[in-house]
Amino acid sequence: MGKIFEWLDSRFGVKDPHKRFFNRPLPLNLNYSYCLGGMAFTLFLISVITGLLLSIYYVPSETEAYKSIVRINEEVRLGWLVRSTHKWSAHLLIVFVILHTIRVFVKEAYRPPRELNWIAGALTLILTMASGFTGYLLPWDQKAYWATVVGTSMAGTAPFIGDYLLHFVRGGADVDGTTLIRFYSLHVLWIPLFMFILLWAHFHMVRKQGIYRGL
Ligand code: HEM
Repeated sequence: MGKIFEWLDSRFGVKDPHKRFFNRPLPLNLNYSYCLGGMAFTLFLISVITGLLLSIYYVPSETEAYKSIVRINEEVRLGWLVRSTHKWSAHLLIVFVILHTIRVFVKEAYRPPRELNWIAGALTLILTMASGFTGYLLPWDQKAYWATVVGTSMAGTAPFIGDYLLHFVRGGADVDGTTLIRFYSLHVLWIPLFMFILLWAHFHMVRKQGIYRGL
């Protein structure tokens, strides 16, 4: 194994960038609450991997979506496990992102020069919630349908642009197949893409500014 690694390293150069990435000085007063961001990132990665697996069998269509979910649960080998893991990692992701935000807030780590990282984090939090909301419709059962009817109708109560917003979110006046495809696209493409970009910026700033040492 060592020899293979040496050979790969001499051609590819894995060790040096790796050292530069991980060997960073850290403040001495760290505790477990500083792991919450890392836990959130781990859960995000678990959601992405299980989501990719689910996308092999899930069919985003008005007539097939529910049937494909039943198939994943009952016929696909370990489909139920992948689906439950996806659901739980998504739920826990929201919990851990909120706990991480509370840690940053309590330690006042949002102060300059970390204010831009707080903004990047806040946008990630909004996207995490949006991911939960759009994913909730995908099973296309009664609970999912009515939750989306209620959730999207809130957009309709916005002053002046409410009507436009409601049509924009639903892709029409009602929640139907168009809404399903819209939510599917947001859930599997747009939201993860922007999450990756924002998290890259988030980690870049954490590395540039270092972990806040406290007041
Ligand atoms: C999926 C979402 C998120 C992930 C994966 C994530 C990940 C991380 C990680 C790994 C760190 C390094 C230190 C630590 O873990 O505490 C960090 C730091 C930080 N995060 Fe997040 N974060 C997320 C969301 C947020 C949110 C919602 C906010 C605030 C609104 C935020 C604000 C910050 C700030 C200001 C720092 C620097 C803290 C310091 O220097 O002590 N993050 N984040």
